[in-house]
Amino acid sequence: MSEKIDTVRIGGPDGPEAGVQGFGAMGISEFYGSTDEAAARDTLDAALEAGVTLIDTADMYGSGANEEFLAPFVAAHRDEIVLATKFGIERDPGNGAGRGIRNDRAYIRQAVEGSLRRLGTDSIDLYYMHRRDPAVPLAESVGAMAELVAEGKVRHLGLSEVTGPELREAHAVHPIAALQSEWSLFSRDVERSAVGTAAELGVAFVPYSPLGRGFLTGAFADAGRDLSGDDFRRHQPRFSGENAERNAALLDPVRKIAAAHGATPAQIALAWVQQRATVHGLTVIPIPGTRKRSRLEENAAATRIVLTDAELAELEPLAGLVAGDRYPDMSHTATAREV
Ligand SMILES: NC(=O)c1ccc[n+]([C@@H]2O[C@H](COP(=O)([O-])OP(=O)(O)OC[C@H]3O[C@@H](n4cnc5c(N)ncnc54)[C@H](OP(=O)(O)O)[C@@H]3O)[C@@H](O)[C@H]2O)c1
Repeated sequence: MSEKIDTVRIGGPDGPEAGVQGFGAMGISEFYGSTDEAAARDTLDAALEAGVTLIDTADMYGSGANEEFLAPFVAAHRDEIVLATKFGIERDPGNGAGRGIRNDRAYIRQAVEGSLRRLGTDSIDLYYMHRRDPAVPLAESVGAMAELVAEGKVRHLGLSEVTGPELREAHAVHPIAALQSEWSLFSRDVERSAVGTAAELGVAFVPYSPLGRGFLTGAFADAGRDLSGDDFRRHQPRFSGENAERNAALLDPVRKIAAAHGATPAQIALAWVQQRATVHGLTVIPIPGTRKRSRLEENAAATRIVLTDAELAELEPLAGLVAGDRYPDMSHTATAREV
């Protein structure tokens, strides 16, 4: 791709400027099978070349390994990227097993130091609370995050998997620049309240898993057959058994529209979420994840695809027909607090 993608401001006029599509680094370290490190580093270079400058990680990805992996790239390109990481999902340092959600002030103060050290930087551009523990008042968590801004450790604040009312409550404590939650052709829970509230408050929306963790690319029909043993999608409801078969059949219109644009199903999925956001008057920066240069370039090129009203109408029913939840345990999602 020769030309760089367009840019937007995240969270209003004082927010950082980034490409209209970002990069999700999670799969480099875990969840989606093994990674070729050289290819992953080349993918990061391809991101910069394409103008994909919002780089998304979290302290829990690879139990810190993902932040460490990014450190040399961060050191080489600190001023060219918008560096985003997250806290809030605690893991056992020994075996990586989940310990639960932590949103208390003491934990946040400790977590930020770990992320800064692993990333090799003295300031994080966008610091997200990864998951919400409803037992901890948002005023405490966002208040502690605001302290980090005052101290210069963090520049802007974000939240992940919160409802519209939670976003509003947090924004009243300290301006929230970005909300990151799952949003794709297959996952539209966020349109219940989060999207409208983000648009109203001028909060940017960062759709995660915009490719449905790869399902929307049309690559899967049978997780047991198509995925390696260490791939966590083998245990995801949408990728398993009959659900996977039914969901794969839903992709026919995506394939048809892709063919009409000379594009891939992945590109149509990305174009959809970008365009769907404009309906809500929302700044949106999807963060597809990939470990391959060619896919990074393919995904970035999707920012130039414009779907017709007829195509959008054809894609409209898909999310309502999907079989299976987006997680085996939905209890830590915003969706669970909205029903
Ligand atoms: N806030 C949260 O709770 C949360 C949760 C999940 C994810 N995230 C963030 O969101 C980012 C993106 O989400 P995600 O990685 O879960 O899912 P995704 O972007 O929907 O899908 C990633 C999968 O799609 C494949 N892929 C990417 N581009 C492709 C293309 N053009 N053609 C075919 N396959 C393609 C990737 O494989 P290859 O690597 O082999 O290309 C990978 O398996 C993550 O990296 C992470 O930073 C945040």
